[in-house]
Amino acid sequence: MSALIIRSARLEDSAALATLSEQLGYPANAAEVKTRLPRYIGAPERRVIVAELDGKVIGWTSIEIVDHFYIEKFAEISGFVVDAAHRSRGVGHALMAEAERWTSEMGLPGLRLKTNVVRVDAHRFYEGMGFERTKTQYTYVKKLAPSRGSR
Ligand SMILES: CC(C)(COP(=O)(O)OP(=O)(O)OC[C@H]1O[C@@H](n2cnc3c(N)ncnc32)[C@H](O)[C@@H]1OP(=O)(O)O)[C@@H](O)C(=O)NCCC(=O)NCCS
Repeated sequence: MSALIIRSARLEDSAALATLSEQLGYPANAAEVKTRLPRYIGAPERRVIVAELDGKVIGWTSIEIVDHFYIEKFAEISGFVVDAAHRSRGVGHALMAEAERWTSEMGLPGLRLKTNVVRVDAHRFYEGMGFERTKTQYTYVKKLAPSRGSR
């Protein structure tokens, strides 16, 4: 049986990360991911972790340190997806185990995440991994015209 490899993302994973982002509901193309990914590679405060099977990236999670002045620093999962063809085989658990290990290694006492209320499968997954639901929030967005280009 092939071994699952859990490792940090590399630039050459961009196309696979983009395809999986679409499954997460955030369509991105490989070029966009390739532009944005370098700020995670080798960064001390954020990381993209991938699951690789038979040379193919089949899942990813992104994690970052959140550091506000009014609250103790914590780590937050900002994205999490496993290829639909590989779900329920422990890939998600393996990715989360590495995210938790990284959080502890960073000396942080807690790992948080936000998830859409409609993602019932994901709630089951997170609760099965020991996460507790602490509150329900609304997200507000206001569209504005950027006055300069952003990446
Ligand atoms: C949530 C997700 C990352 C879990 O990954 P996974 O590799 O399937 O997780 P694992 O195999 O390690 O664990 C599966 C467990 O999670 C739950 N689960 C989550 N999604 C499931 C699914 N589609 N089918 C069955 N079980 C699911 C179950 O409790 C299951 O435990 P069980 O197999 O003992 O019943 C994956 O389902 C996914 O990518 N979902 C779509 C994207 C998404 O919602 N991401 C979360 C954004 S906040």
